[in-house]
Amino acid sequence: MRKRKLKHDDDSFEDQFNDYFHNKIANSGDGNADDADADDGNPNDGNPGSGNADDADDRYAHAYDDDAPTSTRMRRFRDEDDPAPRSRGRMTEEARARLVQEREDVVIADGPPTGYRWTTWDDAGAHGPEPYPDWLVTNLGAVDTEFGVLKTGKEADVFLIERGVPDTGESCLLASKRYRSGDHRLFHRDAGYLEGRRSRKSREGRAVANRTDFGRNLIAQQWAIAEFAALGELWSGGVPVPYPVQHLGTELLMEFIGTPDGAAAPRLAQLRPEPVQLADLWHQLQEALVLLGRRGYTHGDLSAYNLLVNGDELILIDLPQLVDIVANPQGPEFLRRDTKRVSEWFLARGLDPEVADADRLADAVLEEAGVV
Ligand SMILES: Nc1ncnc2c1ncn2[C@@H]1O[C@H](COP(=O)(O)OP(=O)(O)OP(=O)(O)O)[C@@H](O)[C@H]1O
Ligand SMILES: [Mg+2]
Repeated sequence: MRKRKLKHDDDSFEDQFNDYFHNKIANSGDGNADDADADDGNPNDGNPGSGNADDADDRYAHAYDDDAPTSTRMRRFRDEDDPAPRSRGRMTEEARARLVQEREDVVIADGPPTGYRWTTWDDAGAHGPEPYPDWLVTNLGAVDTEFGVLKTGKEADVFLIERGVPDTGESCLLASKRYRSGDHRLFHRDAGYLEGRRSRKSREGRAVANRTDFGRNLIAQQWAIAEFAALGELWSGGVPVPYPVQHLGTELLMEFIGTPDGAAAPRLAQLRPEPVQLADLWHQLQEALVLLGRRGYTHGDLSAYNLLVNGDELILIDLPQLVDIVANPQGPEFLRRDTKRVSEWFLARGLDPEVADADRLADAVLEEAGVV
């Protein structure tokens, strides 16, 4: 069981909490975790469009919806009415799934009320590259406050989190991407990618292959780890991606891309840039892809939906499937698909075809990667 990390001192723990959260909520009237989901017509969205965290009454309503991790602690003992386990001595699939869930829940067990949790920095499977950025709160007395859903998707849900220290007022905003354990497009499409990696335990390998609940949870964890690793490598290489803060189970915490008051940066697909900005964004895209190519990669699922525009700056997101264009025989195909999809968006917005040339960009990236 985790120890409480806030100091008790004179005030009771609850008093400190109440003061802190009262202030937070009172001060967050304009804290707009704006729905990053304006109707953008993305057919791949799977997006119910409920992600507006702006409504104070509704602020935490989405926090533990559906498949998202829940703060409710799981039962540890079987009730008399429960069906008997399928076997004795060996753990049933249900028991194993429950254990996995409990392992995730333990970080919030004994913690603050729903919508808040103790910082999970200390429990994380891994932290982002060092030196840590100045803005990042690593204080173990910090509390994570959830300000609602930024976006729900087929593969993951993204939440806005503030990690703050009640005593000092130090705080930062984070995006929490929680991979879903359910069956979905990406997991099916890339089944071979995961199954090709040998699992240390054959039981885990079988669970993944058979898509049991336990296996699906493992797959979701692997995607979180894969994206965390990709972001770390790319961030260190100067590619414009969010800083990966930590991963823990199926959750990846990263730098929040948006304004300090919690309005998420729009996706490129939502914008209608003027010609000068359009040309500048294409230029930034070229630079980012060439930098990726220099490290031997292409995004693998690039589109105007996986690019954020923060002010004037273009940021690449959604990178769990990063493709190695040198080692993967299909790498160059993935690269051409990436450049084609995104150049089509720029062409549709009126950029000169001589400039937004998908093949020329792909050739430049391949040359950078040393694949000719
Ligand atoms: N670091 C971040 N800062 C701000 N917003 C973010 C961040 N990461 C993701 N988002 C928002 O969440 C959305 C979904 O993120 P992402 O594309 O990584 O997940 P996904 O499950 O693949 O979603 P989709 O199926 O829509 O592609 C993004 O389009 C963006 O609006
Ligand atoms: Mg995406």
